[in-house]
Amino acid sequence: MRNIFKLFKKKTSLENNDVQLDMENIPKHIAIIMDGNGRWAKAKNLPRALGHKAGVETIRRIIKEADRLGVKYMTLYAFSTENWKRPKNEVNTLMKLLVQYLKEEISELHKNGVVINVLGDSSRLPNDCIDEIQKAKEITKNNTGIVMNVALNYGGRDEIIRATREIAEMVALGEIKPSEIDDKMFENHLYTKNMPDPDIIIRPSGEQRLSNFLLWQCAYSEFWYSNINWPDFTEEDLRRAIYDFQNRDRRFGAIKD
Ligand code: IPE
Ligand code: IPE
Ligand code: MG
Repeated sequence: MRNIFKLFKKKTSLENNDVQLDMENIPKHIAIIMDGNGRWAKAKNLPRALGHKAGVETIRRIIKEADRLGVKYMTLYAFSTENWKRPKNEVNTLMKLLVQYLKEEISELHKNGVVINVLGDSSRLPNDCIDEIQKAKEITKNNTGIVMNVALNYGGRDEIIRATREIAEMVALGEIKPSEIDDKMFENHLYTKNMPDPDIIIRPSGEQRLSNFLLWQCAYSEFWYSNINWPDFTEEDLRRAIYDFQNRDRRFGAIKD
C-alpha cells in the first residue's frame, strides 16, 4: 500500500496550502540556489548583510525539514566562483556568517546525524573558514543522516575543468586510454563523486538561470522556481517543491506507455 502522508498548515506563501506528499517518492537529492538575500534586505530598507543573516536562519529550518521528510542529500549553493566580484565587505560578511553558522550549529547537526561536506575549491577561502570546514567534516564524517553539501567557491565550469585536467593527466601518464573515459569515470572526478544527481534544483527569488551551478549533474534535474526570496522560503515551500516534483513526468529521453 502506498504510504500517503498528509500535511496541513495555516499560513503559506503559496496559493494551495494543502499538500499531500507521497512519502515513497521523496527526492533523494535536492539542490538549492539560495538567492534573493540582498533583495529581501533592500525591500525592508536593511543592509544586505542582514539579508544574508536571515538567509542563514532559512538554512537551519530547511535542513531540518528536508531531513524530517527523508531527503538524503541537500546541496546548498552558498558562494559561487563569480561571487568574488562582489565588494570585499560583502564577501567578508558571507565568509564570517559561514564560520559562525558552523560554530553554532555543528553540535546540533552532529546530534542529528548530518554529514557536512563542501563542494568547491576551499583553498581560496579565509583560514578560519578552512579550519571550521575541516572540523565540521571531520566531526560528522561517520554520521549516517542527511548529507549537507555546501557549495562554496563552487562553479560548475571550474569543476568540469578540474575533472578534465585530472583525467588528462592520467592519460598523459599512460594510466588510461582516452577511449576508457566515460560518464562514470568523469563523475569520479567531480565534487559529487558517489552521490546521486539532484532530482530537483530549487531557485527562489524569481531568477530562472543556473548561475554556474551543478552543470554536469543537473542534466535531468527538474527545475523549480519561485518568486519568494530565500530568507522568506518556508518549510511549506519546500514541501510544495517536492509535491510539484512528484507530479512531473520524468522520461529521461525515453517514451512511456
Ligand atoms: C544570495 O543572495 C546569496 C549569495 C549569492 C551569496 P544574493 O546576495 O545574490 O541576493 P540578491 O540576488 O542580490 O537579491
Ligand atoms: C547564485 O546567485 C549564487 C548563489 C546563490 C550562491 P547569484 O546572485 O550570484 O547569481 P546571479 O548573479 O544572479 O546569476
Ligand atoms: Mg543573487
